[in-house]
Amino acid sequence: MDKYCLNEIDSVPIKCTQDIVISRQKGRELARKSGFSVSEQTRFATAISEITRNVLTYATEGDCHLFENNLDGYHMVIAQIVDQGPGIDNPKLAMSDGYSTGHGLGLGLPGAKRLVHELNIDSTPGKTIVEIIIKRRVYG
Ligand SMILES: Nc1ncnc2c1ncn2[C@@H]1O[C@H](COP(=O)(O)OP(=O)(O)OP(=O)(O)O)[C@@H](O)[C@H]1O
Ligand SMILES: [Mg+2]
Repeated sequence: MDKYCLNEIDSVPIKCTQDIVISRQKGRELARKSGFSVSEQTRFATAISEITRNVLTYATEGDCHLFENNLDGYHMVIAQIVDQGPGIDNPKLAMSDGYSTGHGLGLGLPGAKRLVHELNIDSTPGKTIVEIIIKRRVYG
């Protein structure tokens, strides 16, 4: 997850449900400004909603960091959603459809992964980072 030199564009503290809306809007706007299609903007924004909602449910609070990066001929927009909660016990299990330790459907993380090009989880007790990336080839 630290393989890139990231250019941070914005950051939103996640403390209440309104912050999910703000993160979603800022993610969408960054994707739009970076030239992604309306459908890609929506997919990225929806994935941000799911992951920031998990922060409120499982960790109380956190932050959503938004980045842009150019690497190996790709332009990428990245969201890293970070919290200091208990961590995701088994990230592989958490990525499977229907797994929930709460009262959800267990579709948030696997659904988010299907919406974006990459989803990475780096979680230990006290620090969880869920990173999502959308990217497109740049020529010339
Ligand atoms: N930030 C987090 N901290 C700790 N555990 C988490 C976090 N995010 C997800 N999890 C764990 O991963 C599981 C799966 O998350 P996922 O979002 O897929 O489903 P859900 O939140 O349980 O239900 P849904 O999102 O469908 O309402 C959660 O039930 C929880 O155990
Ligand atoms: Mg969820």
